[in-house]
Amino acid sequence: MADTYYITTPIYYVNGEPHLGSTYTTTLADALVRYHRLFGQDSRFLTGTDEHGDKVAAMAAANGERPAELADRVSAIFRAAWPRFGIAPDDFIRTTEERHKRVVQKILQDVYNAGDIYFGEYGGLYCVGCERFYTEKELVDGRCPQHGTVPAYINEQNYFFRMSRYQSWLVDLLTAQPDVVRPERYRRELLAFLREPLEDLCISRPKSRLTWGITLPFDEDYVTYVWFDALINYVSALDYPDGELFARYWPGAEHLIGKDILKPHGLYWPCMLHAAGIPMYRHLNVHGYWTIGGFKGGKSDRAELREQEREEALRLFRDPIALADLLGVDGMRYCLLREMAFGSDLDFTRDLLVTRYNADLAHDLGNAVNRTVAMIGRYCGGVIPDPGQEFDVDRDLRDAACAAPGRVWAHVETMEPHLALDAAMDLAQRVNRYLEDKKPWTASKNGDAEGVATTLYYAAEALGIAASLLLPAMPTKMLELRCALGLDEQPPSAAGGWGYLEPGLPVAREARLFPTIER
Ligand code: MSP
Repeated sequence: MADTYYITTPIYYVNGEPHLGSTYTTTLADALVRYHRLFGQDSRFLTGTDEHGDKVAAMAAANGERPAELADRVSAIFRAAWPRFGIAPDDFIRTTEERHKRVVQKILQDVYNAGDIYFGEYGGLYCVGCERFYTEKELVDGRCPQHGTVPAYINEQNYFFRMSRYQSWLVDLLTAQPDVVRPERYRRELLAFLREPLEDLCISRPKSRLTWGITLPFDEDYVTYVWFDALINYVSALDYPDGELFARYWPGAEHLIGKDILKPHGLYWPCMLHAAGIPMYRHLNVHGYWTIGGFKGGKSDRAELREQEREEALRLFRDPIALADLLGVDGMRYCLLREMAFGSDLDFTRDLLVTRYNADLAHDLGNAVNRTVAMIGRYCGGVIPDPGQEFDVDRDLRDAACAAPGRVWAHVETMEPHLALDAAMDLAQRVNRYLEDKKPWTASKNGDAEGVATTLYYAAEALGIAASLLLPAMPTKMLELRCALGLDEQPPSAAGGWGYLEPGLPVAREARLFPTIER
């Protein structure tokens, strides 16, 4: 295990509010940092807002607001939103903060002094929505492929970052450390971009056109291009260059992003780091997109239903609080993280998540917990029983429970969060099968008190371990579950270890953690 872990999300533009996409990314980062802490790693989690640039300036103008007002208002909305999803970042950075501006200017000056920034003239087709120039080849019928708008031709003098110089360095790096970008398909995508010449990056905007940005330290008449500004948040939040936080956490840097911003993170940022003499991040973790397409492959005579389903999906996508109301905060967290295979796109519908919730949480985990707690009440006086002799079937469950933390951790380390949750949930499913096999209700009728005690002790132990392993996804509900098993409210410091339940501990009379949701 590496020494420290530092997970970041993209910093979100303040021209929009949190939606399901940004909520997914931020929830996943939160679950990851909780996993790393559960397994004993010194960890830190950063999110924030990206507040400069054309887009924000244009939106503020349209609202009749000053850009700084808009930024303050919307940044506060993001900051207040995350706790409502059980998300607890260690720091929240805004690109309008002094601590950030200072570092952007320092890095610009360092790179300039090193000779990697030059002044030149550039004419090209510029899309305001994307905040970037496009080549003719990249346009679709003369329009921006993202926004469908016709980009304006702009010719101006600007500063350029000599990124072309780092092309072969970057190719070598992506080849020598194949998992630096994961999953693999995104590394291949970057290598495909790098088969074309890497062009220098225009990193300034003249103040005659845009004033809402960080002034270049070597030319008062220009502000910094928003991406060159924004990427630096990952180190400015650690007080680069001299901060204790930087020394401690940068070696453990893990970026989490959606596939839409692969290029800036996979091409510009490594070159910027290299030019500034900062070591490369450890991993770039890229997830896919939640899409809204309604039923795929539905029958054509169901068009009306399809339209309803699509409308509902759109409503929930735009208003993730409504989704949390539907599934509960923890239910929503689990279903989002469990349902999306990391790296792939997924079509979002209400039904998709409700089906997952009912199957895994209400049915599998819920049943295992309800039955175990209720039977401890009925047969063992409501306290954790003293286990008796262990037979093969008991040992199988114990082995599975002891192996579960290792299986979960392996998937966390290889950035397959959906499989980590699957491995944790597998344990709860095993408890149900174990109870079916052992039939403590029959053993009780037959007067086999020792057998009943062993079975219910083993079921409770295994569920306690499952609760620890699911805790990063469902922090509140899994603490409730642990309390129902008689444990205290302290979050577990390390997952696993059989035999931590003390016979005689009182358990809850019932534990209805996940009521079934109507489809
Ligand atoms: N400000 C830049 C990022 C700068 S990072 C130095 C930006 N902001 S954004 O507000 O547009 O956020 C983009 C991110 O939001 C995506 O990378 C992803 O994390 C998340 N998502 C936005 N829509 C999404 C989906 N439909 N599905 C999944 N994630 C999505 O880009």
